[in-house]
Amino acid sequence: MSATPPQGLGSAHTGGEAPSATAAAVVVLAAGAGTRMKSATPKVLHEVSGRSLVGHVVAASRELEPEQLVVVVGHEREKVQAHLAESDADVRTAVQVEQNGTGHAVRTALEELGAAPEGTVLVVCGDTPLLTGATLAALAATHTADGNAVTVLTAEVPDATGYGRIVRDHATGAVISIVEHKDASEAELAIREINSGVFAFDGRLLAEALGKVRTDNSQGEEYLTDVLGILRTAGHRVGASVAGDHREIVGINNRVQLAQARALLNARLLERAMLAGVSVIDPASVFVDVSVTFEPDSVIHPGTQLLGTTHLSEGAEVGPNSRLNDTVVGAYARVDNTVADGAEVGEHATVGPYAYLRPGTRLGTRGKIGTYVETKNATIGEGSKVPHLSYVGDATIGEFSNIGAASVFVNYDGQDKHHTTIGSHCRTGSDNMFVAPITVGDGVYTAAGSVITKNVPAGALAVARGQQRNIEGWVARKRPGSAAARAAQAASEEPGAES
Ligand code: UD1
Ligand code: CA
Repeated sequence: MSATPPQGLGSAHTGGEAPSATAAAVVVLAAGAGTRMKSATPKVLHEVSGRSLVGHVVAASRELEPEQLVVVVGHEREKVQAHLAESDADVRTAVQVEQNGTGHAVRTALEELGAAPEGTVLVVCGDTPLLTGATLAALAATHTADGNAVTVLTAEVPDATGYGRIVRDHATGAVISIVEHKDASEAELAIREINSGVFAFDGRLLAEALGKVRTDNSQGEEYLTDVLGILRTAGHRVGASVAGDHREIVGINNRVQLAQARALLNARLLERAMLAGVSVIDPASVFVDVSVTFEPDSVIHPGTQLLGTTHLSEGAEVGPNSRLNDTVVGAYARVDNTVADGAEVGEHATVGPYAYLRPGTRLGTRGKIGTYVETKNATIGEGSKVPHLSYVGDATIGEFSNIGAASVFVNYDGQDKHHTTIGSHCRTGSDNMFVAPITVGDGVYTAAGSVITKNVPAGALAVARGQQRNIEGWVARKRPGSAAARAAQAASEEPGAES
């Protein structure tokens, strides 16, 4: 049998349905320093669309349901390990103390696993957040179907600078080897098909071949890419699979690429939402996290960020210029020019423009939180309204009550926070202070300008303000000759003026 079987002619596969494929193990390489990020944060912990770079790779890998998932950590490993433990408790880590190359990194991972895995082992880099589970599954499926010892995911790129080049046999097109940029000849540098850094291996053959990888290259490192040539020379089948979209395999090295990846991932998320029935008025100015969910006929206006576990129910409308984090917007609710964090907005409720909903805000059905209103840890019942210029903190408001403009729920005595309870069907006056702890009964009215310091029984009118006193003629006496005095004089001379 020929040592160079004519396999490995690229089969384009991305974008279609994912064939079912499994992997015994996935190894994620994330030990590198990522110096080009110029950051105190390890590269793989930088975020796009609400998830770290390595988090995206782990999530895509999880779609294959591998028996083992190992992340190779090194640089700033405590931070990376802590982050991984928080986001996916089943991830194992292998510590690569010195970064002696990608081959050495994979060897470290296999040592962590103990025995070489039986079956397919996928190797991916921790800095490729756009890689999808579908692409990984397709690679694994091609690998198994072709009976390869190794299948490398490749891509044709406009600029191959820095990448390993895929060297193919001129006559058959079979993959012969991967040559690193720094080790490539002039002819090899002209090749535009590159190694994405994603591989499917036969686990046992991978372990064997890694033992034969040498360090006689320009970087003095153990190259994982050498495994391909080693396996081929030993007579095993070596294949390649060409990614449909080269942008999907792009690795993030600096913040320019980080922003580009964010734009692509965001566009992908919004496209999925739109195809599921969400209206996005201006996709270029809307950003959503991977964990945001939508129901059909929700609408997102320009300049809006939807973050965390935010959910838009059917017909909910958000924006323009809003930022919602971990916030649930009920069906047909309207949220305009608002910042909200950890809030729940009821069905048909309205919020804003210019509202700030802090954690623990719960607005009932057809309720209203209006303009220049801040709320925190506040339950506002069905049909109740806080329309203008108010602060409602640590409060419970019943149903169908109206809080007058410019009211403050005075919840802090300088030491502790206290609760205010307002009943149902209340009409509180403008410019009220509710000095907590305090309870206002059902059906209560309060006078404008009141500082309410005592509980108010149901049905009462509470008035708590100084009596008004008018000192007649004060302006003429104290400000003689002023414009005010002249205006007062003129008013007194008008027909019908009081004498
Ligand atoms: C590598 C490939 C190259 C490919 C490119 C794709 C090798 C030798 N080269 O090059 O063919 O085109 O990726 O982006 O494999 N890492 C470790 N431990 C190490 C070294 C690296 O965990 O000792 C990790 C890095 O954190 C990174 C990944 O492996 O996630 C790739 O390493 P990097 O140094 O970026 O490799 P490249 O030179 O880009
Ligand atoms: Ca790289």
